[in-house]
Amino acid sequence: MNDEVVWHSHPVDQWQRAELKAQHPCVIWFTGLSASGKSTLAGALEEILTRQGYHTYLLDGDNVRHGLCRDLGFSEADRKENIRRVGEVARLMADAGLIVLAAFISPFRADRQTVRDILPPGQFVEVFVDTPLEVCRQRDPKGLYRRADRGELRQFTGIDSPYEYPLAPELHMDAGGRSVAECLNQLLEYLHTRGVLKAGYQAVACSA
Ligand code: ADX
Repeated sequence: MNDEVVWHSHPVDQWQRAELKAQHPCVIWFTGLSASGKSTLAGALEEILTRQGYHTYLLDGDNVRHGLCRDLGFSEADRKENIRRVGEVARLMADAGLIVLAAFISPFRADRQTVRDILPPGQFVEVFVDTPLEVCRQRDPKGLYRRADRGELRQFTGIDSPYEYPLAPELHMDAGGRSVAECLNQLLEYLHTRGVLKAGYQAVACSA
């Protein structure tokens, strides 16, 4: 941190930007193993929110690693820096009045806590996408678990790199045992009770 740089306060604040959008900004942070369903749930939730008139942005681990974080790998230090950068971007976007969805393995508790700490109180919603490692392995949509098992990929989360599950997430989703629609409804209901969604939000048909 540069001690010689002084924070400049500007007249327009988060509250005013959010009021124009008629919504409560927050960061909905999906954490879990690779192939646990974070991106699927975040993408589906963003689609529902957008259709219902909310202003959102989805930050996705795989995509961000093509640009902002393209210089980072999967060592502990690089993952820490990945989450630090993305956390700062999420904070700025929430400050702009958006509902931000973030889908990152984010395996370390301390790094998730750091993101929570830089946001205004109550604006970090930690969603633990709890799909057992065996289910993720079977899904393996990108063939990464197979490559990790063959020793072609190092530092793979759940294989030879740790995942620290959340101790007190706002939402704990049994994403291995429940359908996407059931998980989405759990999310929507929670966001409604937190005042992020207005009354009259539409649930997802569970046959979906
Ligand atoms: S994080 O640990 O730094 O939060 P992030 O969510 O950005 O990870 O990226 C994870 C994605 O990178 C996975 O979904 C997977 O597609 C890909 N990936 C490639 N190598 C690895 C690895 N060694 N460990 C975990 N994910 C990897």
